[in-house]
Amino acid sequence: MTVKSYRAALIGTGAFAAAHVQAIRASAPRIELVAAVNLNEEKGREFCQIHNIPAFFVSVDVMLYHVRPDIVLICTPPNTHVPLSVMCLRAKAHVLCEKPLCGSLADFDVLQLVEKESGRFVSSVAQWRFGSAAQHLKHLIETGALGTLRLAVCHTLWYRDADYYSTEWRSDAETALGGTTTGHGIHLMDLLLWLLPDWQRVTAQVLTLEQPITVDNLSMAQVQFKNGGIASIVNSALSLRQETYLRLDFQRATVEMCGLYSANNDNWSFTPANETDASFWSLPENQAGILDAQVAAWLDSLDNNERPLVSGAEARRILEFLTCLYQSAQLGQPVMRDSIEPQDPFYHSIRPRFKSNVSD
Ligand SMILES: NC(=O)c1ccc[n+]([C@@H]2O[C@H](COP(=O)([O-])OP(=O)(O)OC[C@H]3O[C@@H](n4cnc5c(N)ncnc54)[C@H](O)[C@@H]3O)[C@@H](O)[C@H]2O)c1
Repeated sequence: MTVKSYRAALIGTGAFAAAHVQAIRASAPRIELVAAVNLNEEKGREFCQIHNIPAFFVSVDVMLYHVRPDIVLICTPPNTHVPLSVMCLRAKAHVLCEKPLCGSLADFDVLQLVEKESGRFVSSVAQWRFGSAAQHLKHLIETGALGTLRLAVCHTLWYRDADYYSTEWRSDAETALGGTTTGHGIHLMDLLLWLLPDWQRVTAQVLTLEQPITVDNLSMAQVQFKNGGIASIVNSALSLRQETYLRLDFQRATVEMCGLYSANNDNWSFTPANETDASFWSLPENQAGILDAQVAAWLDSLDNNERPLVSGAEARRILEFLTCLYQSAQLGQPVMRDSIEPQDPFYHSIRPRFKSNVSD
C-alpha cells in the first residue's frame, strides 16, 4: 500500500463538525485539514479559531477554486448533501458526506454518474460499521461460523426535545430528508443490513407524534430475510430512557450490542450455543465504531485507489431499504426489495408523505 497525504476541507461547522475535525486529526499526518466553509461567517470563523483551521470561506465554490482540496468532508444539513457532493466531485475531490447521503434513489443515481465522470469517490458516513467488534462479527457471519440468522432486534430508542428541533432543518422533513428514521435509526439499520445484506421484504409504520414538526419521530418495521429470519426495527426520538440495541440470534450464538451513540468491544456480548463456539468471540483490538475509524479506513482505500467501503452499492443498500420502508408506511402494505423502478414516485423521494396525527 502506498501511503499518500491528503489536503482536506470541511464544509459545515455546526454541532457535529468537531467530530470530523477530531477524525481528521486522528489520521494525521496522512491528512491535513486546510480549510473550512460555513454559511454563517461569524460561527465559521470562531470554529476555525477554536480548532486551529488555517483558512475559512463562506462559499464552497470559492473554497474549491482557491484550495483545490484532495478530499472534502461534508457536515451540513441533509438537503444540501447532493448539490455539495456534486460540486466537490466536479472539482476533483473525494467526498465523505454525512448521513443521509441523499433523499432518493434518483439522487443517488445522479451521484453515481457524477462520481464516474469525476474519477473520484463519494462515500457516506456510517461509522458503526468500523468498530472492531462489528468487523469481527461481519467476518464470523461471512465465514458461516454462526449459522443462519433466526431473529434480529434493531432498536434505536433516542430522545429529542423542542430545543433539538429549534434548529430549523431538523424539524422539517424536506430539509432533514425524513426524520428520526433517516437521521438517527439509519446508523443501526445500516449496521444490520451491512452485516446481513439479504433482506427481502419490509412492512412498516412511520409516525409523527405530539411535536409540531413534519419529520417523523417514531417508526417500526418488520423485515424478512431471504433465509427466513426476521428483524424487528424500531426508530424513536421519543424514548426518555435512551438506548441503542442490536440483537442477532443465530443458530450457534446470540450476539448483542447495547450502547447509545457509539460502541466499543465492551458494549458487545456473545452467548454461544456451547463452549466450543465461545472461542469465536475473540476480539483482537478495541476500536469503537466512531468516525475516526471510518476516516482511517477510507484513507486506506484511497491510498489503494479502491472504492471505499460505504460507497457505490454499499451506500445504496440503506437508501433502498429506507425508500421501501417509507413506501410501505405510506401504502400500508409490505414492500419487496428491488420493486422500486424509475417510474415509481418513491424512486424520486423517500420523504414521508404519510399524514401525521399532529392536528392538521
Ligand atoms: N454521523 C453522526 O453520528 C452524526 C451525528 C450528528 C449529525 N450528523 C449529521 O451531520 C450533518 C450536520 O448536522 P449538525 O447537527 O452538525 O447540523 P448543524 O445545523 O448544527 O450544522 C450544520 C452547519 O452547516 C452549515 N451549512 C448549511 N448549509 C451550508 C452550505 N451550503 N455551505 C456551508 N455551510 C453550510 C450551517 O451554517 C451549520 O453551521 C447532518 O447531515 C447530520 O445528519 C451525523
